[in-house]
Amino acid sequence: MTNLPTVGILGLGSYVPPRIVTNFDLEKMVDTSDEWIRSRTGILTRHVVDDGVTTSDLAVVASLRALESAGTSASEIDLIIVGTAVPDMTLPATACLVQDRIGAVSASAFDLSIGCSGFIYALVVGAQFVRAGAYKKILVIGAETLSKITDWQDRNTCILFGDGAGAVVLGEVPEEEGILSFDLGVDGAGGELLKLPAGGSRQPASHETVDNRLHYLKMRGNEVFKFAVKAIEESALRVLERSRLTVAEVDCFVPHQANVRIIDASAKRLGIPRERVFVNVDRYGNTSSASIPIALDEAVQEKRIGPGSLVLMVGFGGGLSWGSATVRWHSS
Ligand code: UT7
Repeated sequence: MTNLPTVGILGLGSYVPPRIVTNFDLEKMVDTSDEWIRSRTGILTRHVVDDGVTTSDLAVVASLRALESAGTSASEIDLIIVGTAVPDMTLPATACLVQDRIGAVSASAFDLSIGCSGFIYALVVGAQFVRAGAYKKILVIGAETLSKITDWQDRNTCILFGDGAGAVVLGEVPEEEGILSFDLGVDGAGGELLKLPAGGSRQPASHETVDNRLHYLKMRGNEVFKFAVKAIEESALRVLERSRLTVAEVDCFVPHQANVRIIDASAKRLGIPRERVFVNVDRYGNTSSASIPIALDEAVQEKRIGPGSLVLMVGFGGGLSWGSATVRWHSS
């Protein structure tokens, strides 16, 4: 028993842009086929923003939905954290743009950059402020417009990614509910496997970096695949052990949606039956930091997650990085 507040998800929301890009559309752009993409990734469609639409635009819609679902007004929010690999600009932080647009007049705000693990990291960081008694309500967002950093001439990557945003409101919940345990980690030695080479201090933007297509994501997919399956299994087992729970007790496994083969392989290694695994990568592709909160929102809407459900979330991605959390779903 502890006097520290327990922290849970009070409400959540998500948003994907309306435009859908199918595998058949991609067949017209690069040397690929619907059959190859389906069988190697499980992806059928992804949602992509129109020109001029930004990461903060998606984040704002998801945030307003999350606030409504939590019955919280924007003015009650103490802190906004946006996990993103594609901020609107390097400066100001996308979280500041969201703060202004939703009217979160009392909130401080910052972005958190750790690739596809961004949502889990932001969730864990946000939870610490509530746990410590420093803040009462935190808005945690995963939002991405990966289409803007995708090389639409590179068949190794352009078939994978999609745009979207998901958001949750964190706050105090009764004991025994909320976030039970977490596991965060990185292996920086694997950073080369998934990177956006130019635009930072190592290779500032120049005519040369643009000509060499260095402002687009580069990935050694096969190696990231192997890392992912191992990282998911190991991190999931650690986070369950920390909350003294077993795989058999997990009601809904919500992994980062990157590739259905990664999800299936890791669920099999963990011994989680398919009916307890949430999958929507077929419709959205890999939306990086947005994938877990979008999946959570859909799982709640589909009543795959309800009051008292034990939810296991595992993210992984660039860094290389991973992050997991177990959550006992809040009852109201
Ligand atoms: O968010 C976290 C980060 N990302 C990930 O989790 C992605 C992890 N990786 C993957 O999902 C998979 O590795 C990919 C889907 C990216 C690739 O699947 P794979 O089964 O690992 O294929 P591969 O990279 O080993 O390539 C197999 C073949 C190659 O041809 P050769 O060298 O065998 O002749 C590729 O050139 O498939 C070729 N290929 C394609 N063919 C048709 C690669 N991309 C395509 C494509 N269409 N789009």
